[in-house]
Amino acid sequence: MITLLHLTDTHLYAAPERALRGVNTADSLAAVVAEVRRDPEWPPAAVLATGDLAEDESEAAYRRLRSLLTPLDRPVYCLPGNHDDPHAMHAVLDAAPFSMQREIVIGDWRVLMLDSRIPGSAAGRLGDDELGKLDALLALDTGRHALVCVHHHPVPMGSRWLDRHLLADADALFARLDAHPRVRGVVWGHVHQPWDSTHGALRLLATPSTCGQFLPGSDRFATDDRPPAWRWLHLHADGSIDTRLCWLNGVLPSA
Ligand SMILES: [Fe+2]
Repeated sequence: MITLLHLTDTHLYAAPERALRGVNTADSLAAVVAEVRRDPEWPPAAVLATGDLAEDESEAAYRRLRSLLTPLDRPVYCLPGNHDDPHAMHAVLDAAPFSMQREIVIGDWRVLMLDSRIPGSAAGRLGDDELGKLDALLALDTGRHALVCVHHHPVPMGSRWLDRHLLADADALFARLDAHPRVRGVVWGHVHQPWDSTHGALRLLATPSTCGQFLPGSDRFATDDRPPAWRWLHLHADGSIDTRLCWLNGVLPSA
């Protein structure tokens, strides 16, 4: 069994004192990091960081992510979200132990990292170029099971304002994944709330943010008072996935 740690939507700033909707995002991530190291599931084989890693698109924010996560001494695989600047990310987060590589091979599994960012928009789309890269990765079927990671949600969350930011070409994604049964799950961030469902044989999982959360089911933008969170993923040799979602102590670090 392979254990992975999913952290997402860290929304860090260049300035360490900055808060997002009342939550100091650096303090919040630091608290999450301290707690995951005390978890019985520690250590994972790797960390997956699925976008909105910076709130202000600054290189300094990505350096803060490096300094907060390097002590974990684990590989950290990153993909961009709508708040990220891919150029700044590549400048800071594409050197060990961080990586922005598209395919990660761990034991019996491959993890495929997709870029759903539309510059200047909160919405997401893979587009022909990214779908072509996915096609090329899926064509290289190595006999391993696969987990797909992307920032934007590929299924509606039942929240009208948030579902305007749905992955626009999710149908094209699912058409490909349905044709490749070795793909066993899709994991995303962006929604700042948990999700666990299925699409055929695919497991669909969203992880809340390491800072503040959104209120599930709300038609209008609304925050939730649930604390920072992370998710453990267990990838089994038979292709099954199980998972445990963790919330930080039930308390939000204040700004
Ligand atoms: Fe996002």
